[in-house]
Amino acid sequence: MGNPLVTLTPSLPKSPLSLEVNGERVECLIAPQKTLLEVLREDLQLTGTKHGCELGECGTCTVLVDGVPILSCLELGVACENRSVTTVEGLAAGAELHPLQQAFAELGAAQCGYCTPGILLTAKALLEENPAPARPEIVSALGGNLCRCTGYVKIYEAVELAAARMRGEAAGTGARESLWPLIGRTARTRDFQVVGTPRPRIDGVAKVTGQTRFADDLILPRMLWCKLLRSPHPHARIVRIDTSRAAALPGVHAVVTGADFPIPFGVLPVSQDEHALCPDVVRFIGDPVAAVAARDEDIAAEACRLIDVTYEPLTTIGSVDDAVTTPAPSSTIMRTAATCTSRSTSSLATWKAASRRPT
Ligand code: FES
Ligand code: FES
Repeated sequence: MGNPLVTLTPSLPKSPLSLEVNGERVECLIAPQKTLLEVLREDLQLTGTKHGCELGECGTCTVLVDGVPILSCLELGVACENRSVTTVEGLAAGAELHPLQQAFAELGAAQCGYCTPGILLTAKALLEENPAPARPEIVSALGGNLCRCTGYVKIYEAVELAAARMRGEAAGTGARESLWPLIGRTARTRDFQVVGTPRPRIDGVAKVTGQTRFADDLILPRMLWCKLLRSPHPHARIVRIDTSRAAALPGVHAVVTGADFPIPFGVLPVSQDEHALCPDVVRFIGDPVAAVAARDEDIAAEACRLIDVTYEPLTTIGSVDDAVTTPAPSSTIMRTAATCTSRSTSSLATWKAASRRPT
């Protein structure tokens, strides 16, 4: 018998969906609130389409719908009824890679490979519309696809090489010398065997075909869903957290808070002040304060909603100048400065001065 005070928000009934994916007709039943990204990854197990920001900002989730690149994290699955969807798994023709995949693998343009599927599909749409794009046109077309590895030059070169091959103007695979004029390498770099020379990566083909498995792609038997409860305040003290209602929800396996992770950590010696979950003071909107593991995503989300947190809002320090003039604990100054250092070296100098003052 469950707790009578705790009820799970009923899930919406599933909707039938019929669409074409990579040339094959697919019929499935999906939760109507699911995005196309979720339908592809969770219902159809096409995990080549990657889950990045889920906010329409990174382009990682790009697929083609009726030939047009769209952000699948912003499109509802049900909106794709009877439409044609192309994902990275549908780019190759059997064992034969698409020229874009071939060029990306050959030139080492896929580094970690997380952004690669989205970039390949955006580039495919570009080359179908413009078979001979100039470099600025490639840069512009790929402007919405962010690469966290920052390897854009190789990406642009790979698109140029694929375009040249598709126009019949470049040698096929393996004729590496023929690539030089196409990818703008100088005579000087041409003299070296390795330095300045594109090298195919050992796992390049897996990365350009969507076969590489990242942690988010793993599906294991009896896997649980985890959701985080995040702070709505930029700066506040956690006065109390009551997780009892969340923990009592059927299907919830665990609810943890900062009290369960008392040992701080940090990548750098100067920042050994991080916690997996906030134990006391939240320092930005979105700082995680509790985590739930549950049988499914809906239950995990409902459990987060049932966690009762009482906050005491604190002064907000939004700039290095504010940090200098406002009395604050040194850890707060350091966090503020860490956010600002990439923007301004003068701000960094100001922070250094501020961090030396007695607190
Ligand atoms: S995951 Fe869709 S834009 Fe980032
Ligand atoms: S290759 Fe790593 S994110 Fe682009």
